[in-house]
This record gives sequence, C-alpha cells and structure tokens, in this order.
Amino acid sequence: MVDGFKIEGGHPLNGVIEVSGAKNAALPIVIATLVEKGEYVLHNVPDLKDIRVLFHLLEDFGMKVEKIGDNSYRIINDGFKRNEASYEIVKQMRASFLVMGPMIANLKESVVSLPGGCAIGSRPVDIHLKGFEALGAEITQIRGYVHVVSENLKGADIAMSFPSVGATQNLLMAAVKIHGTTRIINAAKEPEVVDLGRFLIKMGAKIEGLGTNTITIEGVEKLNATEYSIMPDRIEAGTYVIASILTEGDLKIKNANIEELGVFKNNLESMGVEFEREGDILIVKADKDKLKPAKIVTMPHPGFPTDMQAQMMLLLAMIKGHSEVEETVFENRFMHVPEFNRMGTNISIRHGIANIEGVDKIYGTNVMASDLRAGAALVVAGLIADGETTLSRIYHIDRGYDKLEEKLKKVGARIERIKLNV
Ligand code: UD1
Repeated sequence: MVDGFKIEGGHPLNGVIEVSGAKNAALPIVIATLVEKGEYVLHNVPDLKDIRVLFHLLEDFGMKVEKIGDNSYRIINDGFKRNEASYEIVKQMRASFLVMGPMIANLKESVVSLPGGCAIGSRPVDIHLKGFEALGAEITQIRGYVHVVSENLKGADIAMSFPSVGATQNLLMAAVKIHGTTRIINAAKEPEVVDLGRFLIKMGAKIEGLGTNTITIEGVEKLNATEYSIMPDRIEAGTYVIASILTEGDLKIKNANIEELGVFKNNLESMGVEFEREGDILIVKADKDKLKPAKIVTMPHPGFPTDMQAQMMLLLAMIKGHSEVEETVFENRFMHVPEFNRMGTNISIRHGIANIEGVDKIYGTNVMASDLRAGAALVVAGLIADGETTLSRIYHIDRGYDKLEEKLKKVGARIERIKLNV
C-alpha cells in the first residue's frame, strides 16, 4: 500500500498559505555543514523526505543532528568517521552527490556512489567530475562508484560546459578550503546557489560573483561553523501563484519570493496577471478567462525555471487559445502531459515542444505523479477538476513539498491522504 491523494475539485481557495524553506537551498546548505568541524544551527529547514534522507547520510558520516525547534536543527560536525557515501543513500536522492565537495575538501580519499537516472532524464555528473579534476583530484570510476584521491589540490579556472546548479554547488563547497584562487566560469546563477554561497561566506569563506556568470573563490585554511536561516522556496511560491489563479478564489501567499523565479513573473504579467504586496503577503489578481496564451521556454536562471514548467503548462492548458512550452534543461520532462490529457486537457508534443490548445474544463480521474513538480501540478489540476481525482505515487510530492495537503486544507481545499494499492 502506498500513499495517494483523493481530491474533490471545484472548491475555491481562500485565505493565506505560507511558503516553507527552500528544499533546493536546504539540501546543499545541510551538506555544507560537512565542510568544517563545529556546531551549526539551521533555521527554516523544510520538513521533507529528502531532508530526512540527508540527515541519515550525515549521521552515517558520524555527525549529530538534533531537532531544536519546529524548523530548526543543530548539526554537530566532529569530523568524518567514514569516507564512503553508499548507493543505498545516493540512489534515494540525487542531491546527496553534493557530499563530494566537502569530502574532497577534508579527506585524502573518498568514495561516492554515482547517482542513477530519474524520470526527468539521465542526469549525468560529468561536469562535477571535470571540475574536481581541474582542481587536481584524481578520479576513477569503478562498479558504479566514484573514487577520488585528493592530495595536492590547488585552485584553478573551471569552465563549465553548462551552468549546472549541482556542479556549481559541489565545486563551491570544495574550493572554499582549497589553497589558491578558483574561478567557476559559466556558473549557475540560481538563487539557491547564491543562498549556499551566503552561508559559506557567513562561515568565513571568500567568495565573489555569486549570482553572476563567474564565481571567484579564494581558498582559506579554516572556516567557522555558524547559524543560518534558509531562504523561502521560490518554486513552492510559484506553485501557489498558479493555484491562486486557477482556483479563482482569494488565495494570498505569505513569504512568496517570486521575483527570484526569473522571467516567470514577467511572463505572467504579460499574460494579464497582476501582483500586489501587503507586507509579506502576495496578492495575485487575475481573471482566468481574460488571460492571454503564451510561449514558454525553460532555461537556466534567470530564464523560465524548469521546476515551474509543469505547473505553468497546466495554467496555459486552461487558457483560451494556442500556447507552447519548450523544455531545454531536462530531456524527458513532459511525463505529466499524458496525465493532464487523461483529465481532459488538449496538449500534443511535437519535436520536443508541447502544443497546447486551451480548454474550459477538466475532469477528475485516476492520475499518477511522475516527478515532484508534475505531482504538484496534478494536485492543482485536481483542485479545479470537475469531480474527484485520485493521485497516486505522491511520494514524489512528499520529497519536496512541506505539509502540502495540510496547508491546502487550511485554505479550503478538499484533499485527503489515502492508501492505494499501486
Ligand atoms: C537542480 C535542482 C532541480 C532543478 C535543476 C535545474 C536541486 C536539488 N535540484 O538539479 O530541482 O530542476 O537544478 O534548475 O537543487 N547535467 C549534465 N552533467 C552534469 C550535471 C548536469 O549533463 O554533470 C545536465 C543535467 O542532466 C540536466 C542539466 O544539466 O539536463 C541541468 O542539471 P543541473 O543544473 O545540474 O540540475 P541539478 O543540480 O541536478
């Protein structure tokens, strides 16, 4: 038996929904506590399956993790007790490959399992490994594991072939303690990379150029453990913006940092959506029937975020006229299209572009979450569908959305967690 959601559509959402700490910033920042010994305190850590998996990995390395408040944790790093990150853990969560950066900075030899693929693409780690080699690491791959000998490392110029978020974070965590100057050229500019950088700077790291194409790091001998609060989750915020427009109630969003979603906000504004702020509350004003269709292309930040693609596609599928969505970041990230179409949308994929003809209404049925963001989009689809939707494989959603159904229930959604056979 696995968990699923039963959603009764057609109830408008009203009230304030609050955004949690960002999964994609919390993961690298929790991993960054491995960079230096000491006692850390982290706040605004979202309560997620992925974070719990990561805490196990830290404990496996000999670190102590203690919950000290609703979303606060103390992490004590007494030094690595082992130098291997096993397949058992890395296969559960790709981001755990980021432990390689802190391991290389601290250990002469380390072993990390290669992550597998996932539903949205094969997701190799070649850019990470080339970067570590440029810093002087000797890397061999044997039986699905990466073995690294990291003696005599030295700062270097690393030109990345693509601005990979994970590779930029991994290299940052290694370079802060490696002697000399490292320049990451064609670095990822995502706000979560910047948040990790801010955390490392608070520890005493010398980093310049965060949020630009080139990040320069001056290695230091010793850093200091620190206290830090994780940034709010911009993808969760964006998901609620889409829910707010589609459910046509009066849903307001607390801590919605949508300015950090690159062109997402501009795209919505040119479609006819307006945004207002009252303190830390975001108000979304839109008349769905008057919104204009759009052409969206996902790109690295500040382009349209791939993690908002499924939710945006759902919005476009409900707007009169012809829209298009092109995915350029992950090769296989249209798995939600057949699920949306089961509910009555009119989307066809040709040459890697989703062609969308807007419909007035969709219908509840049985659907399946193929990945985290697709799952969230299907929850929103269930909220606006005529009748009842049963969504399976919600373990994807539990990996990345903190208390989603509780938050939605508080603002009027009819959503229940149920047990399913598949
Ligand atoms: C991170 C986010 C994920 C988001 C993605 C893109 C986390 C935990 N996850 O994933 O939610 O969708 O950024 O914004 O923060 N690539 C290579 N070789 C590499 C590394 C990446 O070819 O060594 C490719 C990937 O297969 C993919 C593209 O580059 O097609 C983007 O990957 P990357 O930016 O590294 O994403 P992640 O860090 O895995």
